[in-house]
Amino acid sequence: MADIQTSASDKKEKEYFTHLPQEAPGFFLKGSHQYDWGLKNRLSRVFNPKDGRTVMLAFDHGYFQGPTTGLERVDQTILPLEPYADCLMLTRGIQRSVIPASTTKAIALRASGGTSMISPMEEWEGELDGKKLKLSRPGFEPLSNESTALTIEEAIRLNASILAVQVFVGSAYERQSLKNMTDLVDAASRYGIGVMGVVAVGRAMARNAQYFRLATRIMAELGANVVKCYYLEEGFDTITSCCPVPIVIAGGKKLPELDALKMCFNAINEGANGVDMGRNIFQSDAPVAMMRAVQGVVHGGLNPKKAFEMYNDLKSDKKKAKK
Ligand code: R5P
Repeated sequence: MADIQTSASDKKEKEYFTHLPQEAPGFFLKGSHQYDWGLKNRLSRVFNPKDGRTVMLAFDHGYFQGPTTGLERVDQTILPLEPYADCLMLTRGIQRSVIPASTTKAIALRASGGTSMISPMEEWEGELDGKKLKLSRPGFEPLSNESTALTIEEAIRLNASILAVQVFVGSAYERQSLKNMTDLVDAASRYGIGVMGVVAVGRAMARNAQYFRLATRIMAELGANVVKCYYLEEGFDTITSCCPVPIVIAGGKKLPELDALKMCFNAINEGANGVDMGRNIFQSDAPVAMMRAVQGVVHGGLNPKKAFEMYNDLKSDKKKAKK
């Protein structure tokens, strides 16, 4: 029970600081200053409040492509990288079966799915003017036919900071994937959990700045707290500039390490708030060295040349230690 002050002398003088108005500071993260406390706190676990950036380690690829190269044994290949990530992007299956519950890293939980890389194409077969035809319907990206893949209670049980949902703007399932995202935003925002809309690219979707501006902005307008998109050499700054919430980049297919580090550096300089990278780290010849070099670019202010030197030094240290 709170004590009751009986006389002015038996306690320290109260100080109301009447001359100092309480500050109402902004928040370090783009577009996030008006969120509630819980959501801001969760986003502060994903993005480092010191610089507003993140290195998310993406290894959710198995949700549609099974044992992806480098992820055959997540316990062997990903756990050694965990200490160097700010956030782990993964499926609930891998989280429960492999990731120690003692991890202190933020969780970006895959929340959409339901298709696989061998989903059948939607095709039409028939006859036209006496000729047999087989046509694929434009825009029917088989992978885009996703649903939401977990409930909000499951996300809470797994202590997710942010939920990741694929959005296929321009595909025949555009509306459905946007509905998946808005449903998750409605559910997640009730509990202060964030939603990250992931720009999916497919045959029907052009990989250019105009497309990425459209897709990222639509997701932000419909409530995504963070958007994940690919880096582009041309016009990436126009994408980050007109998206009112943070953008993180996917790494995409494996590149030579120096090129991947240049991509991270350029993305950060052109307004990205970090990376959500997978194959360029776990498919590297030296994944821990690459992870630390990416950290060096994103949080340490290293340029690509310095980061590549760091990568090579760490890689050769490991080789020496093995001898
Ligand atoms: C996205 O759809 C996947 O689930 C990955 O999270 C994403 O592609 C990032 O991984 P990567 O850097 O390998 O492209």
